[in-house]
Amino acid sequence: MKLWGGRFTKETDKLVNNFNASISFDQKFYKQDITGSLAHVEMLGKQGIITEAESLEIQKGLKAILFDIETGLLEISDEYEDIHSFVEATLIERTGDVGKKLHTGRSRNDQVALDMKLYTRDEVLAVDEELKELLQVILRIMKENTETYMPGFTHLQKAQPVTIAHHFGAYFEMFKRDRSRLFDIHERMNYCPLGAGALAGTTYPLDRELTAKLLGFAGPTLNSMDSVSDRDYLIEFLSALSTIMMHLSRFSEEIIIWNSNEYRFIELDDAYSTGSSIMPQKKNPDIAELVRGKTGRVYGALVSLLTTMKGIPLAYNKDMQEDKEFTFDAIDTVKGCVSLFKGMIDTMKFNNTNMEASAKNGFTNATDAADYLVKNGIPFRDAHGIVGQLVLFCIEKNISLDDMTLAEYKTICPVFKEDIYEAISLKTCVEKRLTIGAPSPTAMNQVIKICEDYLK
Ligand code: ARG
Repeated sequence: MKLWGGRFTKETDKLVNNFNASISFDQKFYKQDITGSLAHVEMLGKQGIITEAESLEIQKGLKAILFDIETGLLEISDEYEDIHSFVEATLIERTGDVGKKLHTGRSRNDQVALDMKLYTRDEVLAVDEELKELLQVILRIMKENTETYMPGFTHLQKAQPVTIAHHFGAYFEMFKRDRSRLFDIHERMNYCPLGAGALAGTTYPLDRELTAKLLGFAGPTLNSMDSVSDRDYLIEFLSALSTIMMHLSRFSEEIIIWNSNEYRFIELDDAYSTGSSIMPQKKNPDIAELVRGKTGRVYGALVSLLTTMKGIPLAYNKDMQEDKEFTFDAIDTVKGCVSLFKGMIDTMKFNNTNMEASAKNGFTNATDAADYLVKNGIPFRDAHGIVGQLVLFCIEKNISLDDMTLAEYKTICPVFKEDIYEAISLKTCVEKRLTIGAPSPTAMNQVIKICEDYLK
């Protein structure tokens, strides 16, 4: 069933119909479609383009369709090309001639631009809400672990000691930036394309300010050709979603490493792990692996839409119908991943003893030993060389810097005194890093306070 049969003398080929139709996926925004139509007809009535009585009758009909879809009384039929055709045809079927006035001064081009915007505008907020809940869990873990030592890594080699609070604090910052990206997108996208018509506006005296206001936009878009062909906001949203996935994927990778038999820094909860069909001993971090894996799928949506858009002349072209399925999939994927990830880290246990033991070996205090020499008058470059010799000595004897005797220290450099042991203890290494952003509990508590205020 079509809205545009007039100038055709032949039926469309069945395969063409299937190829052309979008109703199987754009029915996802039936509610936005009806909401947009309600604002449109309210405005048509106020402007005297149709009578107030007609406007009210159409509004009543549209509301009834919405109600019937939501309560299951009305099934969206895939006989129609798209959700716009379905709603309009159903309205006409139910209200007769008055329903035929709904589409006055409107095109499916501005209609679909509006529907997709309304749909994604809500989803930007929904993703933000998921991120907020994830941040609450991360903050809880930070607060409980300002003195839980672990090795910090560079090149996946032990580097300097940090704490769990500090490590999780890094992810707090990442997801905080993700939220601010979503906020920016929401601001920038919040202009209403309705009234742009097919591409060149209309000759009816539409009140675009009014429809924009009714639909919660900051105002109408300012160029009708751009209005129907702009998909930048989707590209920005998919880019922000890709960045969220990149962050989750890095975090997942760490969880997988920490959960490995070699590291044993954490233990995932049974509810968030899976077993093997053949190896009875296995408890696998499948959730983290799947989150890491699904990252590719979200990147795919971004690259897909960028590619779809790159050669499209102004204004609307049917290529743009391809903006939907990948975007919907990416949104659902990200929301699912953030939510599962949150549950996974909320329930996992830290193996503090292993983490601390790991921080203690591997010379994570070597920088602090060099700093000790600097504080005792040795230039840093020389101190670096001296500690390099200490490390070599320890590697040969298979001990750590803390295990060397003072006499051994002194044979390499006479400057060392008894206070070296305190200077390179794990506690000192962490607690003396006092600058803002560093891992000491003092600095960390200042940041935690800022994080708390941010989440309020
Ligand atoms: N299903 C179309 C889309 O998603 C709706 C707009 C159709 N407009 C048109 N002139 N064919 O883009």
